[in-house]
Amino acid sequence: MSTSRRLVVANGPNLNILGTREPEIYGRRTLADIQAMVDARAEELGWTVSFFQCNGEGELIDRLQAEAPGSLGVIINPAALSHYSYALYDCLRALDVPVIEVHLSNLYARAEAFRHSSVTAGAALGLISGFGSRGYLLAMEYLNAVDE
Ligand code: DQA
Repeated sequence: MSTSRRLVVANGPNLNILGTREPEIYGRRTLADIQAMVDARAEELGWTVSFFQCNGEGELIDRLQAEAPGSLGVIINPAALSHYSYALYDCLRALDVPVIEVHLSNLYARAEAFRHSSVTAGAALGLISGFGSRGYLLAMEYLNAVDE
């Protein structure tokens, strides 16, 4: 059993407007809906959750540096930062807990070529992309499976 049972769920820029933001791509669930799904599963697992969203790169890094240490892992949707942020990549590499990157959409099926690669995913244990909000729950199941 791990010493800490606190999960960190971090969300990058523009994910605060989920629900109304290009719903044909990202779905109609709001970030609050996703948080409620995560909280419900976490309660079943006996975990607490630190769930946050930041529009700024520096703010996101500050929160990760403050909250990841001692947690059981980080689930992060870095949003557009995935495609270009070496600062976030360095931040994730420096965390000493498992990191799972999640994207609602399938990056490789997106029209824009810049979405076809993630620089931050290289600092993660693995990548879940294309399963909508369920991706967060899938990441939790992995962390639960290794949380012993
Ligand atoms: C996203 C995909 C990114 O390309 C985009 O910039 C986002 C959301 C996703 O969850 O599918 O903001 O991370």
